[in-house]
Amino acid sequence: MHVEMLIILILFSVCRITVADLMETKVKVLKEYYDQSVAVSVSTNHFADSMLACVRLCRMDEEWSFNYDADNKVCYCHTGLEPRSDHHTTPGVVFGYPLYVKETRDNGKSHTRSYPRYFDCLDLYEHGFRMDGVYEINPPDGIPFKAWCDQENGGWTVIQRRVNGLVNFNRSWSDYVNGFGILTHEYWLGMEKIVLLTKHSSSLKIDMYTFGDVASQNEAFALYDTFSLIPAENFRLVVDGFHGDCGDSLSYHNRAQFSTYDRDNDNTTTACNVNGGGGWWYVSCYWSNLNGPYRQYSLINYSVERGISWYSCWTHDISLRNVVMKVKRNH
Ligand SMILES: *[C@@H]1O[C@H](CO)[C@@H](O)[C@H](O)[C@H]1NC(C)=O
Ligand SMILES: *[C@@H]1O[C@H](CO)[C@@H](O)[C@H](O)[C@H]1NC(C)=O
Ligand SMILES: *[C@@H]1O[C@H](CO)[C@@H](O)[C@H](O)[C@H]1NC(C)=O
Repeated sequence: MHVEMLIILILFSVCRITVADLMETKVKVLKEYYDQSVAVSVSTNHFADSMLACVRLCRMDEEWSFNYDADNKVCYCHTGLEPRSDHHTTPGVVFGYPLYVKETRDNGKSHTRSYPRYFDCLDLYEHGFRMDGVYEINPPDGIPFKAWCDQENGGWTVIQRRVNGLVNFNRSWSDYVNGFGILTHEYWLGMEKIVLLTKHSSSLKIDMYTFGDVASQNEAFALYDTFSLIPAENFRLVVDGFHGDCGDSLSYHNRAQFSTYDRDNDNTTTACNVNGGGGWWYVSCYWSNLNGPYRQYSLINYSVERGISWYSCWTHDISLRNVVMKVKRNH
């Protein structure tokens, strides 16, 4: 254990100082440590209990870049555009830009202006963007991209949507990695973007709708308090903390790697990846298959055709009409 930690712990038990005091002390210790190290730009350190809070602080200061140390809740706003070399290699420390620069030209004159960068739909939501639609997103450590934001329900970033079968979901590995489809319609956002969006503790919500002709139940949701992917292990799925109203058909896939028809990462000899008809975290083979082939009707014969299924609610013999998968940072 570090000496500082030991001192802090002793102080904590002897003086009964509050958690807030403890954090202050911790921030001071870290500040001193970092102040001694090589600075590539002048930085101001703040206490921030989330990355978003850190971004807000650095935006207010109109600083050019930031590092956020989530473990120690320390936010560094830098005057320069580069991450500090001492932070760059520290695991768990995020680097990003709170603003982005846009050059505009009118009558041959150029003007440089800075605009806020929004990290995800929740960030947009918290800055007053309350209408559903396609927005530009700028996660830290990534290039900007667009996604559909479900703002009416509080800032969810949609990663997958099925509507009517216009877009083919039986696609290659590289399509699933890069994303495909139409943002206002049916799409898969892409593994790399999903990884960027869920770097910080995030939830996954799945909304599902049948064609309305099922006697038992025609819509359902599944919410997971934890959702992330492991990029180095073929986007291995990590889900936990299920809530829902028609059973859990995704936890079976927890810890499975992603497969597509041209990349078989399921650990069985059966061709789940080919027969499933869409990229998924196939095991042997599936309880859910939300990227499966779109059918224009509810009732399918599973022994001859695959569909969009959520077994715990509807078995594999019902194929769904609409599905939305969306993610949100847990602050
Ligand atoms: C397949 O994956 C499951 C779950 O990770 C594991 O328990 C099992 O041992 C694996 N089987 C093979 C053949 O690798
Ligand atoms: C998915 O596409 C692959 C490659 O074209 C094909 O072999 C497979 O039969 C398709 N799966 C379904 C269920 O349509
Ligand atoms: C499903 O298809 C199989 C194979 O064609 C057939 O034997 C079976 O009777 C079908 N089931 C239903 C419920 O139609």
